[in-house]
Amino acid sequence: MRKLLSSSFAAMMYRQRPKQFREEPVSDLLRELPSEKYGNHPVQDYIAAFEGSEIRARRILDKGYESLVFDVVGDSVLKVTWLHLEPEFGKRPFDAPILHAGAIELGKRGLFIKRVNFFMQPKVEMRATDSDAASFGRTVDSLGYEFQDAGAHQLGYFESRLVLVDPFAVREKGTGHFWSADKIPYYNFG
Ligand SMILES: Nc1ncnc2c1ncn2[C@@H]1O[C@H](COP(=O)(O)OP(=O)(O)OP(=O)(O)O)[C@@H](O)[C@H]1O
Ligand SMILES: [Mg+2]
Repeated sequence: MRKLLSSSFAAMMYRQRPKQFREEPVSDLLRELPSEKYGNHPVQDYIAAFEGSEIRARRILDKGYESLVFDVVGDSVLKVTWLHLEPEFGKRPFDAPILHAGAIELGKRGLFIKRVNFFMQPKVEMRATDSDAASFGRTVDSLGYEFQDAGAHQLGYFESRLVLVDPFAVREKGTGHFWSADKIPYYNFG
């Protein structure tokens, strides 16, 4: 009985915490989005993919074109995307590290497998300047890449190093545009 009382007291205190200090399942945060399809994001599929997941987040940090970004408990971010993740993402010399990445399969439709892709990164300091973005562009160019979706908002500082937080924004030269048909949406061939 005492245990029951103390746990319901804890639950009551938890509910009274200001929203920014709460830690909620990702699927619950997704349910707060205004529409079923938010921009390009198939929100209902994302909810189904993260139902029952252990990952807890404080809030949705940003709703980008490619990713929904969650502020995850423990100083990392979770990005959920409808796009295919290249295996080299997070490993290129200019990338923010990827701590964990995966694909959640939601079923098959003919030859297609419906997948929601996700990855986690350490939270970085988003304080890159336009001049950082220009020098970052020159660095990746010298390595054989193109900063195609260029801008300071794609960059941050991690352990005092300028890194790319949006892996989709840089592509190897000669491999097409960052927003092209080979960047296969979330219905991927199995
Ligand atoms: N690792 C990170 N640490 C801290 N903030 C981040 C991190 N990754 C992303 N963000 C925040 O989320 C925003 C969007 O991230 P990102 O560029 O990866 O998504 P996107 O879908 O490509 O967005 P956009 O279409 O605006 O470029 C960043 O500009 C930044 O404010
Ligand atoms: Mg971006």
